[in-house]
Amino acid sequence: MNTTPQRYTVTAALPYTNGPLHIGHLAGVYVPADIYARFLRMQGKDVAFVCGSDEHGVAIPMKAKKEGVTPQQLIDKYHGIIKQSFLDFGISFDNYSRTSAEIHHKTASEIFRKLYEEGKFIEETTAQLFDAEANQFLADRFVTGTCPKCGNPEAYGDQCETCGSSLNATDLIDPRSAITGAVPSMKETRHWFLPLDQYQDWLKEWILVGHKRDWKTNVYGQVKSWIDDGLRARAVTRDLEWGIPVPVEGAEGKVLYVWFDAPIGYISSTKEWAAREGKNWEDYWKAKDTKLVHFIGKDNIVFHCLIFPIILKAEGSYILPDNVPANEFLNLEGNKLSTSKNWAVWLHEYLVEFPGQQDVLRYALTANAPETKDNDFTWKDFQARNNNELVAIFGNFINRVVVLTDKYYSGEVPQPGQYSDVDEQTIVTLRAYPSVIASSIEKYRFREAQGELMNLARLGNKYLADEEPWKMIKTDEERVKTVMYVALQIAAALATLSEPFLPFTSAKLKKILNMEQENAPGDEGTLWTEISTKKSLLNAGHHIGKAELLFSKIEDEQIQHQLEKLEATKAANAAENKKVEPQKETATFEDFTKMDLRVGTIVEATKMPKADKLLVLKINTGLDTRTIVSGIAESFKPEDIIGKKVTVLLNLAPRKLRGVESEGMILMTEDAKGKLVFLNPDVEGVENGAVIS
Ligand code: 2FM
Ligand code: ZN
Repeated sequence: MNTTPQRYTVTAALPYTNGPLHIGHLAGVYVPADIYARFLRMQGKDVAFVCGSDEHGVAIPMKAKKEGVTPQQLIDKYHGIIKQSFLDFGISFDNYSRTSAEIHHKTASEIFRKLYEEGKFIEETTAQLFDAEANQFLADRFVTGTCPKCGNPEAYGDQCETCGSSLNATDLIDPRSAITGAVPSMKETRHWFLPLDQYQDWLKEWILVGHKRDWKTNVYGQVKSWIDDGLRARAVTRDLEWGIPVPVEGAEGKVLYVWFDAPIGYISSTKEWAAREGKNWEDYWKAKDTKLVHFIGKDNIVFHCLIFPIILKAEGSYILPDNVPANEFLNLEGNKLSTSKNWAVWLHEYLVEFPGQQDVLRYALTANAPETKDNDFTWKDFQARNNNELVAIFGNFINRVVVLTDKYYSGEVPQPGQYSDVDEQTIVTLRAYPSVIASSIEKYRFREAQGELMNLARLGNKYLADEEPWKMIKTDEERVKTVMYVALQIAAALATLSEPFLPFTSAKLKKILNMEQENAPGDEGTLWTEISTKKSLLNAGHHIGKAELLFSKIEDEQIQHQLEKLEATKAANAAENKKVEPQKETATFEDFTKMDLRVGTIVEATKMPKADKLLVLKINTGLDTRTIVSGIAESFKPEDIIGKKVTVLLNLAPRKLRGVESEGMILMTEDAKGKLVFLNPDVEGVENGAVIS
């Protein structure tokens, strides 16, 4: 019987084509989205899993200029690299499109025109930031300045990455052009604004009341704080050359704001897929019983929870997201991932260094996914996840089962005898796993779900370790048949249940076990559920293949190599950042001789109470032991600097810092990495009090 399956539209944030993909992209968006889509398909659901390249916005022409190519050349290059990385890592999009595609220009233009004709925009001429030197209006990434909310001096014209606030360029304090560095002037220009404030009450009802329980707390919290702050109209057009031309009269030289067109890319991608597959795209965007789920990173929450839903609501015929499971950020070895600083593990490079080990990265990223808070990726953790979990638990269990089946029964699944209590219990536990894992995935808790998958492998390992078929084969051959039969059922369940998380491993294991691969949408007994319902997953008499290693150990040298690469990046960045300060005003010889510079020794060091940066030092100057307050507490621990020889400016006029009189100054400099170091006169035979001249 074929009943109509539940329909899902699953979207993953469209990546900008201004650089390749790194582990942060995979961990934050694409691996969770892929686990979810694969899981739904295995449940027999009707799924459209769509994505594409985000090719508009100011980031593209800016990056093209930097690389000395045209915007079109830039997007073609990165679209190709990104698409290949998704394929390589098994991200199973039903369609991967791009926003430069004709179908997308048409779709975005139609939606804009409909809202325009129905009077859903406010058309207004306002004064906007303008860079006269570049002859360019400044919005979004073209302008930086101080965030009015948190004081971050590097906020962008559309968003502050420190506090997550969504901004208008004119909100910035002390704005500067990102093109020329100039202080912008104000110039009038006409734009179309989406009056977000008019949708405030509706949003409150829909999200704050309607999705209080099912949206993640990080997403709900951000949305609530924006709504509570009050929403303002937001321009959805820009004075730019690169983008989709505003499709109305009198809008020459203007394009759609990238955040107006990009999410519509999900719709265009679905249209492209539906046309190819002979489906009706509207079923996936307009049918009330379709569930729409957006996978994104936390910096995209405002666009997917407020702006895009408002566009869809204003248009009137679309469904709204059922959930927006946004992740927090992944850091790399303690620092923020950064494309411009090359602080990243690039997916295409990873594959060169760890060929065929896509699942290891998928596994490590999910095990450490930034689901509720920012998390750190470390190469040591990556190695441990592989060696201690994938190799030692999952791989080891499968290898034992396959090798022993081959050895005892030439690869034929044996006929089991009577189950013992342990066998019964093991089978009962096994049958509970599909619903345990499903329940975590349905709540978007992918770490927890994958943890349960690994618990199933642990169950198999423990079962074999307790039953010891390799010993029992000498005394009770009949019992070994039952044990191996049970172990083979666990192996088969692992092959199926691992598919959303470890698709390459799952396929390899299914091949080893000679299992059926697919089930079609709408199948009544799905591969996922039949683990709980079917009497046997691998019947007696079924032939399995030969053992193949599923995972291999990652050696210390491989990890060391990765760490050294990161160290080299750090050093290159430090060298790049190192600006040699220009020479100061000329000082006369008399000016110089006025300064009394001496050698001294730190004899005591304590932290200044309630001051993060200050240490109170006692210095033996040869003349006396005096107090000097120094702003070095973030770089040195008091106990580490006692006994250090330092250079002291003795005759600096005393001044009080936090109530403590400071009688001089310690001379410091910075090393190549920007770390404070003492100007160290620690040369043998030089005594405290020696004059530096
Ligand atoms: O933040 C980004 O990388 C954007 N390119 C995401 C766009 S998501 C969607 F709306 F298209
Ligand atoms: Zn801020």
